[in-house]
Amino acid sequence: MRTLLLWMARNRWLRERIPRMGFARKAVRRFMPGEDPADALAAATAFKREGIASEFTRLGENVTKIEEADAVAAHYLEMLERIGSADIDGELSVKLTQLGFDLDEARAQAHVERLADSAATRGRMVWIDMEGSAYTERTVALFERVRTTRANVGVCLQAYLRRTGADIQRLAPIAPAVRLVKGAYAEPEAIAYQRKTDVNTNFAALATALLHLRKADSRVRIGLGTHDVELIDVIAARSQEMSLPKDAFEVQMLYGIRADAQRRYVRDGFSVRTLIGYGTAWYAWYMRRLAERPANVVFALRQMLP
Ligand code: FDA
Repeated sequence: MRTLLLWMARNRWLRERIPRMGFARKAVRRFMPGEDPADALAAATAFKREGIASEFTRLGENVTKIEEADAVAAHYLEMLERIGSADIDGELSVKLTQLGFDLDEARAQAHVERLADSAATRGRMVWIDMEGSAYTERTVALFERVRTTRANVGVCLQAYLRRTGADIQRLAPIAPAVRLVKGAYAEPEAIAYQRKTDVNTNFAALATALLHLRKADSRVRIGLGTHDVELIDVIAARSQEMSLPKDAFEVQMLYGIRADAQRRYVRDGFSVRTLIGYGTAWYAWYMRRLAERPANVVFALRQMLP
């Protein structure tokens, strides 16, 4: 089921048709407050009242025209202004292929730098998402270059990839900001763990490595991008054993998933941030959410019933 859903996520024919169907538009609302940026900002304002910070992502990837990438960058600059005026603790989470990575790498990097500079004037961060493995090396390298001159940029690393331990060691000298996730794409056995238990074991080991970096250098920032509360609790216990403060890491979850746990972590004194997606290009992103938990397909199909 996971493989089929991830294939559907990449299929162009389906990408053009499914988003037009009423039931799909209804079902996706479980994972996003609305397509309009104002919907995302309103959701973040409500989260703020509960002590939950936000990060925003305009959904979409692999743009095919450089003008589209430029428009996305311009949109994010405007979004940073709106985040500032709404007085939200809001950060950006951006996909390099939406900023023209497939077309002109230097331009994509310049967009990230411009966003980071604008975010820095407001004390905000810009996170770089990690996409499929065809982009991993180039993404890590771009992050390395940008982080050297800008402290408010972070990168997402995926625990299912066998290379990630080495990436963390490689980034150690630049005191990185890393959001660790399990990984949402279909990757072959040669480069990625396939079994959930192996991914979880690696996640815990990688998070521990990041905690050691944080212990040595407080500029290191850690985001645990997972809804796996058992895993988070193991890492929280390890962090406590290392005498690190509760804010040594931040719990980062997606809008609409494990809202109960997000509130519980706030009550327990941890930092929590919710990633809020918006925009019209939600199809591939939504299919990856279904693939993570195929039981969600039943929920989506139920939206077809009157
Ligand atoms: P796992 O799949 O084991 O789920 C643990 C539990 O969480 C489940 O039992 C269920 O209760 C709940 N859950 C998880 N997913 C759910 C869903 N879709 N619907 C309902 N419940 C669900 N990936 C990537 O490759 N590149 C990236 O840049 C990012 N960025 C990112 C940012 C943030 C803030 C988060 C939280 C996640 C990502 N991801 C990502 C996605 C990540 O790789 C992974 O696919 C999902 O987080 C799902 O895996 P879990 O870690 O939640 O564990």
